[in-house]
Amino acid sequence: MKTIIEPFRIKSVEPIRMTTRDEREKYIKDAWYNLFALHSDDVLIDLLTDSGTSSMSARQWGAMMTGDESYAGSPSFYRFKSAVENLMPFKYLIPTHQGRAAESILFTVVAKESQSIPNNTHFDTTRANVEAQGAAAVDLVIEEGKHPELEHPFKGNMDIAALERFIEETGVENIPLCMLTVTNNSGGGQPVSMQNIRQTRAVCDRFGLPLFIDACRFAENAWFIKLREPGYSDKPVIEIVREMFSYADGCTMSAKKDGLANIGGWLAMNNEDWAVQCRNRLILTEGFSTYGGLSGRDLDAIAAGLEEVVDEDYLNYRIASTAYVARHISEAGVPIMKPAGGHAVYIDARSFLPHIPPLQYPGQSLAVELYLEGGIRGCEIGTAMFGLRPDGKEEPAHMDLVRLAIPRRMYTQAHMDYVVEVVTGVYRNRHKLKGMKFVRQPPALRHFTGRFGYVED
Ligand code: F0G
Repeated sequence: MKTIIEPFRIKSVEPIRMTTRDEREKYIKDAWYNLFALHSDDVLIDLLTDSGTSSMSARQWGAMMTGDESYAGSPSFYRFKSAVENLMPFKYLIPTHQGRAAESILFTVVAKESQSIPNNTHFDTTRANVEAQGAAAVDLVIEEGKHPELEHPFKGNMDIAALERFIEETGVENIPLCMLTVTNNSGGGQPVSMQNIRQTRAVCDRFGLPLFIDACRFAENAWFIKLREPGYSDKPVIEIVREMFSYADGCTMSAKKDGLANIGGWLAMNNEDWAVQCRNRLILTEGFSTYGGLSGRDLDAIAAGLEEVVDEDYLNYRIASTAYVARHISEAGVPIMKPAGGHAVYIDARSFLPHIPPLQYPGQSLAVELYLEGGIRGCEIGTAMFGLRPDGKEEPAHMDLVRLAIPRRMYTQAHMDYVVEVVTGVYRNRHKLKGMKFVRQPPALRHFTGRFGYVED
């Protein structure tokens, strides 16, 4: 069959509150044109993030009823442990309330001041947790990964030659570990090939460095390997996942993505000495080692989610629906990052709005217009988010993007058709969009709480 259908029926629905453009004009003005300040029931299609927004299955909700809230040694923890180990058999598993808690614990224990961590591309929280230790977060993605318009099957790959050079120049004693983020979120949700994981492992072996995977979207990455990498089309996804992690010494994970849960995460590793220190830190900041910051019912929801996320019908539908939006808006001329990533479509706002200079935040202007036109909430990833330097100066970010992140199992084909209609409609009227400015901004993370206005107002 040509048509790929959602491989689920809907048993419980949540109404979307319909709004008019006039109403949305008021809501966004009241929010000072900051989409993070909107009330989410004033949003029709919420594509702000794919994190923690998945619809859980009836099986997951059922599993939550079996959640056991014992402080220590809960059976929920052991179900969670066996579900994780079925995919990623590391020796030590440490539950945390979300991904950044795992990062914070890991880097507090392993990273020292003035050391460096190489990665294909650090996600913001990973970078912030590395930098919080006074260490440097170094991004070494392949050149193709830096060009939105270039097609490449594995744009998330590590630049292996650059990694070798970097380790030689920095000195292995100044690098506690090497990381790989799958899929590469900050680089557009682009996958990393098995061959690249293997090559990264070989470099790490040569220098005696541990390799950790930021595993947030591991199942989507495995599906891309099955689709695109020679030799994997007949391999079950679960085996691809196991092979990916067989090359690593540990991982950090946010179960809010490919755990199909609304909260949760973990840190896993083989190094006993590090694991003991990380557990001690966990008890200080998150909770006892068999629940981390989670309730027993959360652990059960994750255990069930991990079985469902490697289902190939699910992954086929998931990646097809992201590709569907990307293909249709791209055919209408909308400039996007190519090829489509796993969890999101990234619109190249700088090319979409060439009349708006980067320091007038074309990404923010586009994100606001998508809300006004159709109640869609995306997220600016560009100069508003990254343009402010620590010394208070401003420069254009590397790119000005708007991310439309697609929550898992939440929206249907008709919702995606609506997204295509709104984006292409805004594209036809793009010359009417105006530049923006900050009317108030905090000194850090200004995109979350800053206030915007239009330049001409
Ligand atoms: N690593 C990656 C690659 C991520 O995308 C995220 C979160 C994290 C780590 C941190 O996990 O949120 O559970 O603490 N990404 C979300 C997003 C926030 O919208 O892309 P967390």
